[in-house]
Amino acid sequence: MDGKTVLVTGGTGGIGKETARGLAARGARVILVGRDPVRAQRAADELGAGNGRVEAIAADVTRQRDLARLAAQVAERCDRLDVLINNVGTHPPRRTLTEDGVESTFAAHVLTPFTLTRLLLPLLGGRVVNITGGIPGGRIELDNLQAERRYLGWTFSQYNHTKTMLMAMSLRFAEQVTGSGVTVNVAYPGHGHTPMNQAMTVAGFPYVYRPIVPLLRALTPRLFGDLSKPSRSSVYLASSGDVEGVTGTYFTMNCRPAPWPASVLDRRNQDTVWALCEDLTRETV
Ligand SMILES: NC(=O)c1ccc[n+]([C@@H]2O[C@H](COP(=O)([O-])OP(=O)(O)OC[C@H]3O[C@@H](n4cnc5c(N)ncnc54)[C@H](OP(=O)(O)O)[C@@H]3O)[C@@H](O)[C@H]2O)c1
Repeated sequence: MDGKTVLVTGGTGGIGKETARGLAARGARVILVGRDPVRAQRAADELGAGNGRVEAIAADVTRQRDLARLAAQVAERCDRLDVLINNVGTHPPRRTLTEDGVESTFAAHVLTPFTLTRLLLPLLGGRVVNITGGIPGGRIELDNLQAERRYLGWTFSQYNHTKTMLMAMSLRFAEQVTGSGVTVNVAYPGHGHTPMNQAMTVAGFPYVYRPIVPLLRALTPRLFGDLSKPSRSSVYLASSGDVEGVTGTYFTMNCRPAPWPASVLDRRNQDTVWALCEDLTRETV
């Protein structure tokens, strides 16, 4: 990765920080983004302490005005961005809105990658890696994109729903930029004991999973404490020569291509998610 510049959203903690660490160790210049300037700079200092080049920019990427500022700051610092990793995730236990009035998980998982990728396209010469999660692949509820009708159900969760929508949006994005030199792929990280997981309460899970949540919470630190594992697929997609030119592909936590779920391939779903993203970003992109 010598000579390459990578931007990682949510690079100050959890899987994003491990991804940033892995790419800095491979010689990349890494710009990491977190909401808190002190925490972001501390993470950059820690990861750059060897001979890495790690920088921080503070932004709340669920805010459209922060995204516009972030893209402008990146353009001031670099002539070219080789890799963009849209890593930020959120899992609030109940429906909340961002300051732009957008449902928070839809904002973090779908609208932010859509907006940031579009804003950075003039600089992007390489790869976009979008991070899915949870149990994606269920039905996309076209009358419930921002959880207007339901946020949690027996097996439904808006977290999983928005990760499925992210996949549909990413596939459409890959198609739109075909031939431009930009590739768009989706990585599944696998489970990790991260700040997001530690903050989750039983109330944030679909009803059928709630009885096993205490057991999961007890096992997670021991079984999933090593975050180098869930950062493997994003590091691979950002850096490996094996995936040069590969686009529109979904990769498992073991870095293997996997079939897209039927709901992601559905053109009507892609069209509807895409149209909502365009509608919500008219003033930003
Ligand atoms: N953990 C898992 O088991 C798991 C499993 C599958 C998929 N995933 C996915 O993997 C990705 C990373 O998950 P994670 O568990 O590592 O998340 P995390 O623990 O929340 O860490 C992400 C980092 O993102 C930053 N961040 C959060 N919200 C932000 C915002 N609005 N703007 C800018 N920065 C923000 C936080 O830093 P600041 O607080 O400094 O802003 C935090 O350090 C997510 O997309 C998640 O859905 C995770």
